[in-house]
Amino acid sequence: MNSTDPSSEPLLRVSRSPALRGKVCVPGDKSISHRALLFGALADGPVEIGGLGLGGDNASTMVALRALGVPIQQAGTDARVEGVGLDGLHEAACALDCGNSGTTMRLFCGLLAGRPFVSTLTGDASLSRRPMARVATPLRRMGAVIDGRQEAVRPDDMFPPLTVRGGALQGIEYDLPVASAQIKTALILAGLQARGRTAIGEPGLSRDHSERMLRFLGAPVSAEPARRRVVVDPTGWNGRLRAGPVSVPGDLSSAAFLLVAALIVPGSDVTVENVGLNPTRTGVLDALLAMGADLEAEVTGQAMGEPVGKVRARWTERRLRGITVAGELALRSIDEIPALAVAAARADGTTDFRDLRELRVKESDRIACISRELRRAGVTVREAPDGLSVEGTTEGVFQGGRVRPDGDHRIAMACAILGLVAAEATEVPSRDIATSFPSFAHLLQVLGAPAQ
Ligand code: S3P
Repeated sequence: MNSTDPSSEPLLRVSRSPALRGKVCVPGDKSISHRALLFGALADGPVEIGGLGLGGDNASTMVALRALGVPIQQAGTDARVEGVGLDGLHEAACALDCGNSGTTMRLFCGLLAGRPFVSTLTGDASLSRRPMARVATPLRRMGAVIDGRQEAVRPDDMFPPLTVRGGALQGIEYDLPVASAQIKTALILAGLQARGRTAIGEPGLSRDHSERMLRFLGAPVSAEPARRRVVVDPTGWNGRLRAGPVSVPGDLSSAAFLLVAALIVPGSDVTVENVGLNPTRTGVLDALLAMGADLEAEVTGQAMGEPVGKVRARWTERRLRGITVAGELALRSIDEIPALAVAAARADGTTDFRDLRELRVKESDRIACISRELRRAGVTVREAPDGLSVEGTTEGVFQGGRVRPDGDHRIAMACAILGLVAAEATEVPSRDIATSFPSFAHLLQVLGAPAQ
């Protein structure tokens, strides 16, 4: 959890909203921003990043890179990373604080596993409860020495703080037991430093931003998305990525809150422009379309091998309907389940979210937290071990009140959106939202919502 003293924390207050209307751009994609910073550090010269995400998670990656000796200048959403290459990274004088960011911690495990020095990775209370054996186990097989905190209730796992003693690595063949872009990327980063070839398989295709960006920057990484396999072979590679400008598209995971808001607030018509439309991330759009949403997505260009475009969402008299979100669709909308659960609450019929056991180990136990907060607002929700069922109501009245998102940015924003159609004001801790989308309240205001 981010919050310490709940009575004094700054709050975002959202009230029942008139129609939301307008065209907006959302901040840079959080996943892509992490990678632009980290891969930029491995370049053979300066990397100028445009459209960088400014949330707390991306800041954690930036601070950790600086501690490892990477000069980074930042002015708003522009950053200049002086690439130092793998060999230019130095042992940090202190622990690397990953804050609330699982992506920072897991990607740095892979990066540091091959560096000839010792690093300590810490995080906030939420990150300190998140499982790390999933990244440590394959990295240990490659030759890294990684230790972490043990918990009596989960004896087979490992938790932060972590100590990574990097050194010579050997390539491996590894099938991830659970699809995860964070673990896949950690293994790619370790594979780039290893002797021989590393092949990584996954049970489903997780977001492939690393593969796309690394290939764009000239790394010896080849992806076979159809076989859900990535191969890294650094034999003969000089260990440096190509310097140059990099531009980060808007974050579809952030846009999802504004799009769902437009679909549930009567009379709304909202367009989000310059947003990433990578097919491994667009499950949220497919789910909303299956629910009957009036949604149009159009790819208008490419950035670093990533499709970019715009999405328009319009409220209609025809109500949303309940669907099942499971399997591949669940994986492709993994971070948008809190937003989709709000759409489900305003739909006709029940929406079943399944195959989502991973949500139990995100920034919060998202299944428990969103279920509890939706119930508080008056929604009927049934929890399952791997998901939840939301009974929608097209006319029912939602209650406002104080949201307890357990420090989780996505639950906080989902509850704020529900607050746009609630009978009374809804209050959400602002600090939690800043993890990924600090301009959330501002953009809601731009669209005409009462959000202060
Ligand atoms: C991310 C991967 C996903 C996602 C997270 C960001 C990334 O996590 O949920 O918000 O940037 O690689 P997992 O790798 O745990 O699936």
